[in-house]
Amino acid sequence: MITVNNLTMSFGGQTLFKDADLKFTGGNCYGIIGANGAGKSTFLRILCGDLEPTKGEVIIPKKTRMSVLKQDHFAYDEYTVLDTVIMGNQRLYDIMQEKDALYAKEDFSDADGERAAELEGEFAELNGWEAESEASKLIQGLGLSEDILYSQMSALSGNEKVKVLLAQALFGSPDIILLDEPTNHLDIYAIRWLEEFLAEYFGTVLVVSHDRHFLNNVCTHIVDFDYGKVKMYVGNYEFWYESSQLMQRLIKQQNKKAEEKIKELQDFISRFSANKSKSKQATSRRKLLDNAASCWTS
Ligand SMILES: Nc1ncnc2c1ncn2[C@@H]1O[C@H](COP(=O)(O)OP(=O)(O)O)[C@@H](O)[C@H]1O
Ligand SMILES: [Mg+2]
Repeated sequence: MITVNNLTMSFGGQTLFKDADLKFTGGNCYGIIGANGAGKSTFLRILCGDLEPTKGEVIIPKKTRMSVLKQDHFAYDEYTVLDTVIMGNQRLYDIMQEKDALYAKEDFSDADGERAAELEGEFAELNGWEAESEASKLIQGLGLSEDILYSQMSALSGNEKVKVLLAQALFGSPDIILLDEPTNHLDIYAIRWLEEFLAEYFGTVLVVSHDRHFLNNVCTHIVDFDYGKVKMYVGNYEFWYESSQLMQRLIKQQNKKAEEKIKELQDFISRFSANKSKSKQATSRRKLLDNAASCWTS
């Protein structure tokens, strides 16, 4: 859960957004939309603590683990792909490094033995034994060969690096995942795989994207950055788009009779519900998407 209170961000006297109050809760996927320069990336950077807001606060409970899709394609050049993916869970990676250093010591003392036992315990708790196979699954899901795990990041092409950094953000079951334009430079197969992954994901996902199809397939909510205001809507992109178009039409047609307006709204809702029921599937996030229409009408 992320709570955002009264959040305001200005750069050099220009306000990007003002007094945003939002709650992001577990199990939901929030699509963040808005024009270029509206402040979407800045908003994510504030959430992950990379930037200080001008005003307001972000509250994230302690022990919540947040993963962020890294934007710097050269940051991991000196590491292997496997290490880069595992660094998605920094604590696990640090434990593995410390363990390796201990076991490599020639004068391994009793104290070292105790420390090693402690580390082994935490390693197991963090699912360390599964780390390599999880990394491999993510890498293969995104369409890369398993062999690439042992390559140096510096040897990879730009598109391969993008996929590795995405695998890093998804690695190790974080409670919150922040993704800024994750489908840029991804091929269609990798995008479909990511959609499936996010649709099944238990945690909270915030994703900035211009890809309407992608947003439709993964989002339970839409957060719209529009002229300094930030508003959250229940439902996927299609529902947000169609309903905001309809609202604008109805507002313009002030003289239209109330019954006609209600009829138009009802028609819209039944059309939307019919669309959604076709794709009804068993996962909880998909159920949430299906329920979005009824939230709007109640
Ligand atoms: N560190 C910074 N210093 C000054 N201006 C910035 C900084 N970061 C972003 N901006 C400005 O804030 C605006 C919003 O940027 P950004 O959050 O990247 O928008 P979006 O991701 O919605 O396209 C842009 O006009 C950008 O130039
Ligand atoms: Mg951006």
